[in-house]
Amino acid sequence: MISNLIKKLKKYSFLHNNYTLVKFFFTGVFFIVCNYMPITTKIKGLNVKSIKIFKFMLWHEGFAYFTGKLYNSDVFIKVDTKLHLLSNDILSYERLTELPEMEDKLVKIIDYSVGDQIEIVLYDFVLGQELTEQAIIQDPNLIVELYDIIVDINTQGIIHRDINLNNFLITNEKVKIIDFTFANSLGETLGFTELRVQTERDRRLLKYLGLGLNPEPFVWNDFYSVCQILKRIMLNHQSKCDENTCKMFSHYINELKCYAEDSNYTYVLSEHSGR
Ligand SMILES: Nc1ncnc2c1ncn2[C@@H]1O[C@H](COP(=O)(O)OP(=O)(O)OP(=O)(O)O)[C@@H](O)[C@H]1O
Ligand SMILES: [Mg+2]
Repeated sequence: MISNLIKKLKKYSFLHNNYTLVKFFFTGVFFIVCNYMPITTKIKGLNVKSIKIFKFMLWHEGFAYFTGKLYNSDVFIKVDTKLHLLSNDILSYERLTELPEMEDKLVKIIDYSVGDQIEIVLYDFVLGQELTEQAIIQDPNLIVELYDIIVDINTQGIIHRDINLNNFLITNEKVKIIDFTFANSLGETLGFTELRVQTERDRRLLKYLGLGLNPEPFVWNDFYSVCQILKRIMLNHQSKCDENTCKMFSHYINELKCYAEDSNYTYVLSEHSGR
């Protein structure tokens, strides 16, 4: 009888193997039950129609995603009910659109409502895909676009802090950067909201941010992250790289190393910083 019970339990061992997935799922279900109505009411208040849940499996830490229609255009809706960081997306967008060359590298923010319990930002819906190592191998110039974007952002005094391929979308063979939720200022204070390093939850989130692609848990440098991305591509796909591509990637890795060590482009979160 005990062995039968063990067999049955083993069937459910996927629960242990996929603990994070299961946790996200139940967090999502709990979130829908408790927050769905107030969120959709708020989204409707911004005149959005045909609201639909989007990428449910990515919902986490009070972030939820929806799509909808605003005056017949498709919108991507990002909701933040816990961390209240969406003002960082707006601040970055406003500052970066001051650079005319950045306009088509950003996703347009159409409307927003921030500053209370449920924060919402409406973006143009991008019909495209997230950047992948495979896409870069097929079109190595994508890495140049990515690099140019980081140069523009950093020279405008902003550090993204979550540079990984998921935060770039390709549309019409052009790269756009998204997700400035955890961005901050390099040098001059621009009014970004920082997570609180003192609290356990925020420390966990900060450590996860750019994990593996930042120099240290509480130190970020966007150039360092791009350099790591390139190194991984070289490691995983070297056999598929032709000679010119390999040369180009090595050149960029060397160039990025200098920026990656430059303290002007490095953001260090002090143990005592907070909101
Ligand atoms: N404007 C957009 N149009 C279509 N899809 C989008 C758009 N912006 C983001 N997405 C998709 O929605 C998902 C979530 O976006 P986003 O990167 O902003 O959040 P996240 O990474 O889950 O959250 P976090 O802010 O915690 O990093 C991503 O998979 C992304 O591809
Ligand atoms: Mg993201």
